[in-house]
Amino acid sequence: MPLFDTHAHLDNPQLSTNARAVVQRANDAGVSWMTAIGTDLPTSQKCVALAGEFDGVYAAVGVHPTVVHTDEVADCWGDIRDLANKPKVVAIGETGLDLYWDKTTIDIQRQWFRKHIDLSFETGKPLVIHMRECEAEIVSMLESSAITGSIIGIMHSFTGTLESARRCLELGMYISFAGMVTFKKSTALRAVAAEIPADRILVETDAPYLSPHPLRSKRPNEPAYMVHTAACLADVRNISPEDLAAITTENAKRIFKIA
Ligand code: NI
Repeated sequence: MPLFDTHAHLDNPQLSTNARAVVQRANDAGVSWMTAIGTDLPTSQKCVALAGEFDGVYAAVGVHPTVVHTDEVADCWGDIRDLANKPKVVAIGETGLDLYWDKTTIDIQRQWFRKHIDLSFETGKPLVIHMRECEAEIVSMLESSAITGSIIGIMHSFTGTLESARRCLELGMYISFAGMVTFKKSTALRAVAAEIPADRILVETDAPYLSPHPLRSKRPNEPAYMVHTAACLADVRNISPEDLAAITTENAKRIFKIA
């Protein structure tokens, strides 16, 4: 049963310069589908182009919370909206909040996150949410937005607590795990991964960042390496790698509305 990498920055030059080989190695390893995720207008455009080029590649378009305050993204929202309506664009993101790098931009981050939430409501396409040092803020923004529309989305590269995972699950969110869950010190995160309902768990690389154990020293990370993260999740959930692949792929196709 083939795997679906729900979050890969395939536009990143470390991967895009050899996109064909990267996709081929993924396919050879059993990773048949992947969502290429944008972080601003040019990267979103590149992800859409990659989705056009490769059968198993889909795209997500959006503006990452760590760049929302920059001049470069000031006028891009109209173009992001246009891209969001393209057929192989299956999600809105990468969006969310990040209080790790720069706490002074929180207000503008909130405005942009809200724009992505509204675009998700309009298009019916799920959000892909980045959350760093801001669990309470994200969850409360999602909970208040859920009053005006139906929240659908993915908590990407989840590293939070079981408590915040449960609140996200209650909103209807899916929880996606990246390479971090395989690290030796990530005992608490593996315990969270064991508790996620079978119909809400996803797996991803977040390539080119943070290769999974035992390939941690390999850079860049790439979708082919996701088999290690999937094996780790199967292990903590006490199921076979085949069953883990079957449930996560079914979940990914359901949330991305891929037939
Ligand atoms: Ni990412």
